[in-house]
Amino acid sequence: MTKLSVNINKIATLRNARGGNIPNVLAAAINCQAYGADGITVHPRPDERHIRYRDVIEIRPIIKTEFNIEGYPSDSFLNLVLSVKPHQVTLVPDPHDAITSNAGWDIVKNLSFLTDVVTVLKKEGIRTSIFVDTNPENIENAPLTGTDRIELYTEPYASGFHRNAAEAIEPYIKAARIARELGLGVNAGHDLNLDNLRYLHQNIPWIDEVSIGHALISDALYLGLENTIQIYKRQLAD
Ligand code: PXP
Repeated sequence: MTKLSVNINKIATLRNARGGNIPNVLAAAINCQAYGADGITVHPRPDERHIRYRDVIEIRPIIKTEFNIEGYPSDSFLNLVLSVKPHQVTLVPDPHDAITSNAGWDIVKNLSFLTDVVTVLKKEGIRTSIFVDTNPENIENAPLTGTDRIELYTEPYASGFHRNAAEAIEPYIKAARIARELGLGVNAGHDLNLDNLRYLHQNIPWIDEVSIGHALISDALYLGLENTIQIYKRQLAD
């Protein structure tokens, strides 16, 4: 079964646009879970322009499903996740000024850094996932870090999907096969939506988890949050 983790960063972006506490991020996390999300993802960035460090601490006790925290493993990020102890930490190589994540790790180049970070997190019982593109060399080297999973960066799949879906999915099938053969779990995320999610799932049914934010929260404006989460879950159902 492929789990749906809802990234609630966009709820925080909307809240931050006005100050105050509308919409309420904590209530959104509670409701996403009540409406069927299998997990909640947050991505605190150093400038706290979406989810703030304080949000992450406040959300932790209300998580009844799975808590995934994404981010660049700076000292402050690591201190946060080690105090909050989510179920999973996804390591992302974000530059400080990135609007959103726009690349996976070069694992070979960052092998010793990633290995150190993974070791620290796993010692605390936190599952790790490393954000990567489909480059086979990256995935073949991922087990050297000790990571449990990789997360495939799906923006290139999403942008190629309407031109030629079969061509767009091909490198992802190959990458996910290599990961499976190496005993790594496979997550996927970025620009997944109601057009491309079912096809991804049908072609790589062994994906453990997708994390989806932008499109899902945008769809919820029209369809409602409960309905939207249920529709996304149905894309992963068969
Ligand atoms: N995975 C990672 C590592 C991300 O950085 C993001 C965006 O915060 C996502 C998944 C979700 O992407 P989207 O908002 O396009 O669904």
